[in-house]
Amino acid sequence: MFAFLSITRLLLLNWLATTRASQFVSQFNVGNDLEIRPSPNDTANLVFNTVHSLLLGWPHRRYKNGHTIVPGIIPPGTSLYHGAGIPEIPATPEWTALDSELSTLYCGLFSMERKGCWHLTLTVERPLKVLYFDGYSSLKFLDGPGTIDSQDVIAWEKVIPGKNHAEQERIVDLCRWGEKFKIDGFVRLHTTYEVMLCDFSAGLRLDSMHHIKIPYSPLQPENNSLLERPKMQIGVPLDVFGMGEIIASRRLDEYPGETRVQLYLHRLVSFYDLSISPSLAEQRFGQHRLQHRILGISQSDIHTVKARVESAVDGEWSNPTSGLDWASLFHTTVQRYADRLELVQLDLNTATRSSKDLFLRMRAVFLQLRGMTQPYDFVAAHPIIDGCRGEKSWALPVYNACATAYPLSLSAQITFTPSERLMLSALQATTREICRTITSMWADGVNHQIGNKQNDSEFTITLQEIHEKWKKDINSLISWLDWSVWLKCKPACSTNEMCYLPISPYLIPGETPAVNESDWLTQAQDPHPTCIPRHSR
Ligand SMILES: *[C@@H]1O[C@H](CO)[C@@H](O)[C@H](O)[C@H]1NC(C)=O
Ligand SMILES: *[C@@H]1O[C@H](CO)[C@@H](O)[C@H](O)[C@H]1NC(C)=O
Ligand SMILES: *[C@@H]1O[C@H](CO)[C@@H](O)[C@H](O)[C@H]1NC(C)=O
Ligand SMILES: *[C@@H]1O[C@H](CO)[C@@H](O)[C@H](O)[C@H]1NC(C)=O
Repeated sequence: MFAFLSITRLLLLNWLATTRASQFVSQFNVGNDLEIRPSPNDTANLVFNTVHSLLLGWPHRRYKNGHTIVPGIIPPGTSLYHGAGIPEIPATPEWTALDSELSTLYCGLFSMERKGCWHLTLTVERPLKVLYFDGYSSLKFLDGPGTIDSQDVIAWEKVIPGKNHAEQERIVDLCRWGEKFKIDGFVRLHTTYEVMLCDFSAGLRLDSMHHIKIPYSPLQPENNSLLERPKMQIGVPLDVFGMGEIIASRRLDEYPGETRVQLYLHRLVSFYDLSISPSLAEQRFGQHRLQHRILGISQSDIHTVKARVESAVDGEWSNPTSGLDWASLFHTTVQRYADRLELVQLDLNTATRSSKDLFLRMRAVFLQLRGMTQPYDFVAAHPIIDGCRGEKSWALPVYNACATAYPLSLSAQITFTPSERLMLSALQATTREICRTITSMWADGVNHQIGNKQNDSEFTITLQEIHEKWKKDINSLISWLDWSVWLKCKPACSTNEMCYLPISPYLIPGETPAVNESDWLTQAQDPHPTCIPRHSR
């Protein structure tokens, strides 16, 4: 007993400890050069995106391979749904859905009976402890692209690509592992979110068990012969199971996403954290994020990450001592800059027809840039008169103030968990890169007095040069940030359409099914948003 307690306490202390030595969180340093770009190996932008995408649907249908694991609770009063072929409460771990569109689909799929299936509604009676795997975490391809990797690290301490479909074994092993931490279930993204429930009798009450008609039957009603099963692995038409799931999935596309799962972000563990999984840095080098996988991680990193997850779920789960609302901090940054940066990019990438056109466009962009730097446009910050036109060191105080706007003052006083230090450094580095780019662009505009010119008669070749430079600056910032709010249908859809990012195994209307699974995998690799009809036909 004593030994158990002290180990627990040790883990907890270890987890709370604020070591200055961590590789990831160096002393925050804004720097004194407006031209220094982030290192290609830095993961700050990836951690930022990961945190801001948790429990949404949309971003994970593009970046399917999850890299982050977060403990959380499902509060009392929440309904969980389960579809079954027999009228019984499952006695072993099983899957439940947070939305009935998903559970009724499975109700039909597994029923042996022609007429009906059983739909269970369970109500949560005490906070359920869950562990959330981000990414498109319930998507299983044969030799999958890596959607299940993070689960396998927890269940089996290795990634086994051939075992993507070993769902029964996975749920049992995850639940067995979670027992000593009193974990009730695991949350993954299906078309909407599902909860892999370890024990249906723990913390839940059965509210109803209805005998319902099978919504989508593989059986043909007239002569009871089996229809050919849709070939899931090569894609099925969008409305083969109705449009219910697709419509349900829309509810989670935008922030805040699935609010019935409440995450403890201050206990988050990410494979993008260089201090706990450095072995992945090398294999990610030069790869697009679409290709990032956990497969290939070293065994020692697996142990480090798993130990971090175990210390994060150990003991009482409570709110962070820092008191910070991390989700809001991240969201505020996105809210503040997303539209403005997008507009700047649009303006700079739209062709101009005349020099007057270019002049007006550049002025409009300059005003946007000034709008973003305004709170830091110090009276003392102005170009050195008669100095070199490219000289921008006068703008460094503006950059520094912009880049340290809020997080720095916090970091000095508060005891952070390792997860919070990871998030803080991602927030800082992201803010820094935004501020570096916009300050540098804005300073170009001030140097060349773009804001003061009244007409295009003073138009020179310089304006074209600045235009080219700005275009490069904004494009590289936007591709580095790669926020999912910018992933949308362009042009926007009409009112009887919806913007859709492919949900496996459904095909976009007009798309031909793949011939085999590996072909399907390639098709699904780099999905693009498309406008589709709201109604099934
Ligand atoms: C009955 O089953 C056969 C396949 O065995 C199918 O071709 C036929 O369309 C079905 N329906 C009717 C009404 O016969
Ligand atoms: C980034 O990582 C690659 C591969 O590990 C390494 O070769 C390269 O030197 C690193 N670059 C920087 C700037 O650290
Ligand atoms: C253009 O601006 C210059 C000074 O900036 C001024 O002298 C000139 O009259 C203006 N021309 C027109 C057409 O407004
Ligand atoms: C799948 O189909 C493609 C052609 O679209 C072919 O090149 C490939 O060899 C096939 N793979 C398998 C495993 O059959």
